[in-house]
Amino acid sequence: MIHYDVSERICVLRLDAPPLNVITFALLDELRAATRRANDDSNVQGIVITGDAGHFSVGADISIFKEIASAEDAVRTSRIFQEAYQEIEDSPKPVVAAVAGGMMGGAVELAAVCHFRVCAGKTWFSMPEVNLGINSGAGGTQRLPRLIGVGPALDMLLTGKPVDSAKALKLGLVDAVCEGGELTACAGEILQSMKSPRTACRGDAESCEIIRTRDRVDRLEDDAARETLFAEAEQQVAEGRPEIIAPRKILEAVKIGLEESFEAGLRKEQEFFADCMATPATQNKIYIFFAHRETGKVPYLGDVKPAEVAKAAVIGMGSMGTGIAHALMIAGVPVVVRDEDDAILEKGTAKITGSIEGRVKQGKLDPERAGGMLKLLATTTDWQEIADADLVIEAVFENTAVKHTVLRRIEDVCGDDAIIASNTSTISLDVLADAMQRPERLIGMHFFNPAHRMPLVEVIRREATPAGVMATALQFAGRIRKTPVLVRNREGFLVNRIFIPYLKEAFWLLEEGADAAAIDAAMVEFGFPMGPLTLIDMAGLDILAMTDDVLRRAFPQHGPLSPVAVRLVERGHLGQKTGAGVYRYEKGDYTPFHSRDAEEIVADVRRQQGRTPRRIDADEITDRLVLRMVSEAFHVVEEGIAQRESDIDAAMVLGTGFPDFRGGVLKYARDRGLDRVAARLEELASQCGRRFSPCELLKKLKGA
Ligand code: NAI
Repeated sequence: MIHYDVSERICVLRLDAPPLNVITFALLDELRAATRRANDDSNVQGIVITGDAGHFSVGADISIFKEIASAEDAVRTSRIFQEAYQEIEDSPKPVVAAVAGGMMGGAVELAAVCHFRVCAGKTWFSMPEVNLGINSGAGGTQRLPRLIGVGPALDMLLTGKPVDSAKALKLGLVDAVCEGGELTACAGEILQSMKSPRTACRGDAESCEIIRTRDRVDRLEDDAARETLFAEAEQQVAEGRPEIIAPRKILEAVKIGLEESFEAGLRKEQEFFADCMATPATQNKIYIFFAHRETGKVPYLGDVKPAEVAKAAVIGMGSMGTGIAHALMIAGVPVVVRDEDDAILEKGTAKITGSIEGRVKQGKLDPERAGGMLKLLATTTDWQEIADADLVIEAVFENTAVKHTVLRRIEDVCGDDAIIASNTSTISLDVLADAMQRPERLIGMHFFNPAHRMPLVEVIRREATPAGVMATALQFAGRIRKTPVLVRNREGFLVNRIFIPYLKEAFWLLEEGADAAAIDAAMVEFGFPMGPLTLIDMAGLDILAMTDDVLRRAFPQHGPLSPVAVRLVERGHLGQKTGAGVYRYEKGDYTPFHSRDAEEIVADVRRQQGRTPRRIDADEITDRLVLRMVSEAFHVVEEGIAQRESDIDAAMVLGTGFPDFRGGVLKYARDRGLDRVAARLEELASQCGRRFSPCELLKKLKGA
């Protein structure tokens, strides 16, 4: 795992634990032993710790979390890392970290204990622990502020956002940026000269003394500036969710380390790590983290080889086709898009170009890379130009006849081996396959809007889908940096089938008397980024009505759409696109304002239905909305639509913004207790209708 090489009095310790060089306990032991050996070796003058030319390490092995069952385990885990790192920092011989690639958490902490740091041009440093609901436990809260100052350190620790090599150099996170192949040589030069503000030298390199990170004060802000930074961070932390304690703990550990001592700070890191690990929010975030990693794994595919996709085609350059083409370009896949006329193609191209150029202007994208991405796109009205595509994704109107014609054209022009993916949201793949000569090559790849940003793709298989086609779609989704979830072909697939009933329930609540703003507020309080009515105004009420039409026929338990939604659509309240939906919108502004018109429509419906509006409290709103999803999710499990429960949880978190700290729909239900969930569903079924009736599986599970 660690290669030990000495040349010209410099010892290079190279991490070699493919594919990601994750830092395990075993690797830590080897690293400690190798550092001791180098210190005992009289031929060695300095030590370089490095990885591959393009990649150092992604940080600590997260599977270690699975072994943590108690506070003692958590404290011990943090202590083992801290002690191993401390030994490297204490090395009497100078140590340089020579790093590259995505440096995360424990890898950054390892670099921070070294006496010098050099990185390749393509290096990103981040402290993503906060996103998992934990504080860094290997000295990060103590060494980062001393290395780069409290302000930048808090920024990295509290946001988890990456810092690129240029910024890292400016911040002092690294001493030099060198080219990948030259990393070790670059580190060697530093050791030869030992020239750095953190070495006290009296002449030659031999007489230099290292000032270790833990003892540094040169980057620390003065007391007054630090106070201001802490006050600002306190405010930022206070705005976060109370269930997630990590940000507060990170801030406290940084403060204690600077106000008391470095050692006190390290002890707090251990203790706080255990505190975080004991919270359900963190446990759920970790559960979701592992759930994401599982979704693409399909054991029965075994070692089936996916086909190579050298070139892709997208048919239709509307909202989805444009987003899908953009996603492919981001991932470096050459793509040709076919639509009916040049005006549509120009509009789609302008949208992609505008977005890419915008990112360049914001400094978020390298101009050279942007140029390369734009070269990957070709557009055409000529079917022949898609002839050499290995994968064709159709994203034309949601109309069976149109899709049938398009699928036939694709088959006419493309090779027999080309795989055809449909982005349909409601039409059964079996129905689409009816029009094809070689239906076995059809698969569903259901993207979410906007496709270049949303991380989820549902890969939909028919009973007859061959393993190779599935493997290709799954691998391709991963290649374009999406999380694929394999689902069986059934109306609404997975996410929409569970989410549409939730959106519909919001309209029933509105009809019965709840206020739109109160419905949305309850769901934001639950943890969604926005409420269901704001969301449906964005997506379009007409789209909800259309999708519901298909779903309701397939799943009678969903029940009808509230007349409130039907009436709003009839009156042209389609959402943001018409400036009026459940809320009112001003031109060019997507802020939802109270709509008196919508209120009157709702009042009208209530009168016609003979309803006296009643007060509905936040608990009932939350229960009805969330339990509609829970109930449907168990139907999905019952029908074997997904491979595993955790796939459903991951898909709902990625596809709908279901709060990860609640672990997804099914995990939420299990944490709440299936007995209690089933009982509450029975109660709601008797009060509101059979759409709440728990399925047979849930009834069976509740006693288990
Ligand atoms: P859209 O109406 O924005 O775009 C459809 C495009 O297809 C139009 O540009 C149209 O000119 C083009 N088209 C029609 N016939 C064609 C043909 N013969 N050859 C080439 N292009 C043709 O529709 P949108 O929203 O992009 O939806 C496309 C598909 O994606 C639909 O199946 C929809 O259900 C699905 N979908 C939509 C989502 C959304 O949020 N809009 C989300 C996920 C899936």
